[in-house]
Amino acid sequence: MPPLKSTSVLTAEARHAVSIVLNGTPRTGHAHPRLLLSDFLRHELGAHGTRVGCEHGVCGACTVRIDGVAVRACLTLAVQADGRRIDTVEGLSQGNEGRMTALQEAFRRHHALQCGFCTAGILMSLTDYLDRNPKPTEEELRDMLSGHLCRCTGYAGIVRAVMDVTGRTVREVAHV
Ligand code: FES
Ligand code: FES
Repeated sequence: MPPLKSTSVLTAEARHAVSIVLNGTPRTGHAHPRLLLSDFLRHELGAHGTRVGCEHGVCGACTVRIDGVAVRACLTLAVQADGRRIDTVEGLSQGNEGRMTALQEAFRRHHALQCGFCTAGILMSLTDYLDRNPKPTEEELRDMLSGHLCRCTGYAGIVRAVMDVTGRTVREVAHV
């Protein structure tokens, strides 16, 4: 993905038009130059599926895909996303004829979520990661998941869900 930067001249006090393709649909909103992409999605466009936790890049709750690449929306300015495709958790089923994706179904089957606060970000990271690495080892998967904080699950269900959806049996990871 090319570097994220706005080509427009921005002024701090003005709200600037930001046009994105959100889950396949063109959307335009307005943002001050310092507005975070996470806040732009939630408050300007009403896309509340993206969660906001730490707001400084640690927890991973706000992860979305920009032009296919998983990115922390709390570390990205809305104006940097102008002209980009943004995919959020709402778009997963939209791209699957309205049904949950195999990964989402596996999360449900393996109780990979409890409060669900972290889940949207983890799903968006995983969809990018599994596109690039469709058969991760458990060690690779756990390394990837270390970029996400989940207070509820202990990660065991998440690991089982991903192993399941990538074609490995639950028994292989039954010791987690
Ligand atoms: S809210 Fe973005 S990483 Fe925590
Ligand atoms: S399911 Fe509650 S924080 Fe992860």
